Amino acid sequence: MNTPRLEIRNIVKQFAGRRVVDDVDLTVMPGQVTCLLGPSGCGKSTTLRIIAGVEMQDSGTIHVDGELVCDTVTRKPPEDRSIGLMFQDFALFPHLTVRQNVAFGLAGRDRDQRVAGLLAKVGMSRYRDDYPHQLSGGEQQRVALARALAPRPKIMLMDEPFSGLDDRLRDDIRDETLDVLKSEGTAVLLVTHEPGEAMRMADEIALMRDGRIVQRGAPYNIYNAPTDLDAASFFSDINVIRGKVEGALTDTPFGQFLAPGVADGTEVDIVIRPQHLKIDFDRQGRGPNPTAQDGTAARGVVQRARFMGAVSLVEFRMDFDGSMLRASVPSVFLPQAGTALWIMIRRDRCFVFPRR
Ligand SMILES: Nc1ncnc2c1ncn2[C@@H]1O[C@H](COP(=O)(O)OP(=O)(O)OP(=O)(O)O)[C@@H](O)[C@H]1O
Ligand SMILES: [Mg+2]
Repeated sequence: MNTPRLEIRNIVKQFAGRRVVDDVDLTVMPGQVTCLLGPSGCGKSTTLRIIAGVEMQDSGTIHVDGELVCDTVTRKPPEDRSIGLMFQDFALFPHLTVRQNVAFGLAGRDRDQRVAGLLAKVGMSRYRDDYPHQLSGGEQQRVALARALAPRPKIMLMDEPFSGLDDRLRDDIRDETLDVLKSEGTAVLLVTHEPGEAMRMADEIALMRDGRIVQRGAPYNIYNAPTDLDAASFFSDINVIRGKVEGALTDTPFGQFLAPGVADGTEVDIVIRPQHLKIDFDRQGRGPNPTAQDGTAARGVVQRARFMGAVSLVEFRMDFDGSMLRASVPSVFLPQAGTALWIMIRRDRCFVFPRR
């Protein structure tokens, strides 16, 4: 097993008696991107500031390449941690040119070569003698990346670094940034509250809530095996069907669902994402026959349908209890309001959670 580039263990930080970071463990391997993902206020930036050394944890340890950087006794100053920082409000020095910004703080014979190499990597060579105010937001971002990478940090901490950019530009800059970071072999810990950004950038996502890491794994695994209802709903709209367990089964208008290991009488939420509802036509008041894979169909009436470009969103009011379900269908599917259709729920795509 390789030594993690960054390893933090049991980090705790309280403000005014409240645990803002509550026993957090994280590891980032060399060349890997880990995204710390969670809603506003869950403690992401505080965690990053502790790793950077600008905030002190109450307890817990930080190791870089297996070497202790900080516990409650030892404390390396931020500039000795081999950690680069890129924050949303990155500020380039306004009175220095692009080249001087990137060279700032660098010493040594290979300085000019390093600066030229980085500017080429981020595609900013021809702007090297411009000042920051002459650059667009995206160009400034590229220079900030080059500057952060110039001292060859082992670890790059990024806190919502792309949130100041407009959507199209952001996608390009994200991908370019990833390429540059991977080519430098830097371990990256990226903070974001946007699931889309985390899915796009991360090798591993650590999902944070109320100061705790509630789940970690590859994007595919977190999306397809969420640990609870909140983890599922953080990544997309969800539909929730309620039920009660009897004999490890839950009866619903969509047929029975397995609820292995859940005690009798427990109320459960059956969660399904809109793209996993199956829609079928009405056959003079009847739906499709039940199947093992999709259970029983239930009838609903279209309330509205909207075309979103890649998908169409259709909202149904269900006959069985008047509740609403949302389906997303690839491409164009725009049934008229009032149309009766039948909905089935794919058993391999739903999650069953005990209700909290
Ligand atoms: N220096 C401080 N003193 C007191 N409370 C603080 C301090 N720094 C952060 N907090 C509180 O800790 C909690 C977590 O803050 P933090 O900035 O880590 O959240 P975040 O996950 O980065 O949120 P966002 O996505 O909005 O940036 C918040 O409730 C915040 O008010
Ligand atoms: Mg923050």
